[in-house]
Amino acid sequence: MQSMLPGAPWLLAHKSMLAVNRPRKISLFGDDYVLWKDAIGEIHALPNACPHMGAMLSEGWCEVQSDGASTVICPFHALKFDREGRTVLPGSNKQTLPQLKPLKLEIQGDFIWSYGGYEPKSPIPTVLNAIANHYYFIGHTADRSVETDLLTMLLNMHDYNHQNGTHRDLFKITDVEFHQFIDDGHHSHAFYDMPTAPYRLVEKFRKPDLFLLPSTIRAHLENHFPSLVIFHGEMPLGKAAQCHIFVPEAKNRTRTYILLFGQAKHPAFKMFGSTYLKFGKVVVDQDADILGKIYPDTPQKIKLNNEVGMDWVRRNFESFPHVAEPNLSR
Ligand code: FES
Ligand SMILES: [Fe+2]
Repeated sequence: MQSMLPGAPWLLAHKSMLAVNRPRKISLFGDDYVLWKDAIGEIHALPNACPHMGAMLSEGWCEVQSDGASTVICPFHALKFDREGRTVLPGSNKQTLPQLKPLKLEIQGDFIWSYGGYEPKSPIPTVLNAIANHYYFIGHTADRSVETDLLTMLLNMHDYNHQNGTHRDLFKITDVEFHQFIDDGHHSHAFYDMPTAPYRLVEKFRKPDLFLLPSTIRAHLENHFPSLVIFHGEMPLGKAAQCHIFVPEAKNRTRTYILLFGQAKHPAFKMFGSTYLKFGKVVVDQDADILGKIYPDTPQKIKLNNEVGMDWVRRNFESFPHVAEPNLSR
């Protein structure tokens, strides 16, 4: 369990990722849950195994009640469960006691967080709400589960040297120029530039998205250990906040997805939202690909420059929920 950092908050979804009255399966700490959003925008979560004969409630459907809230219906024998896990058995007209224990959610605006039933040991970051107040929401993308443990996933995200290997395709990054790391415990910032090799004009006309790739990608990563990394991108037409989310689904399976926010300096910026979502998806797919091709338990005999982000992850991981020395700012 320790390898999944119990006591940390995890962002299970943005409300837009749930269609009204459509159940969805979410996994956390090795357990599956059914999440559903009713017509009044409220989110409910129950364990996903039906207490009758174990069918997945997430494969069922919802029924709207007179007050606008909804119940989830099991696809096997159609037992109906309300948000508290109560049901009405056939031939009876009275509600049972709760048969399922709801998963406790912490809803902050459109963000659905949970401690997975563990005692909170670190606060829910408020940064996403601040971003949502100043940016418009472009959308979500790249929601996928990767067969890797949480630590390996986080190390990849805070590895500033993998850009010219893992992300060489499409972005053609030639170099990583590291500038600064600000260590503030479970919060940190990293600044680095990534020059890219130019595409030929014919290639750009064949794939017009390439016109949006800058000749140098200026990266500012804002990190909130352990669940969130925000890539702040500054473009001539506007600003983007690409939020990478991590959820420990099980010991060796970690989910990741992107929530993308933008701030237009020029009205044309809004036309490119779907292109930026596409770039984000490419990044996540490239990361997932390399994570499937490494031996995670290999002793590290070689250390490169600028592995400070990974040192920060390892230090916070080992001492969680406490923040240990040394401070890694440089
Ligand atoms: S398994 Fe769910 S109602 Fe029978
Ligand atoms: Fe990556």
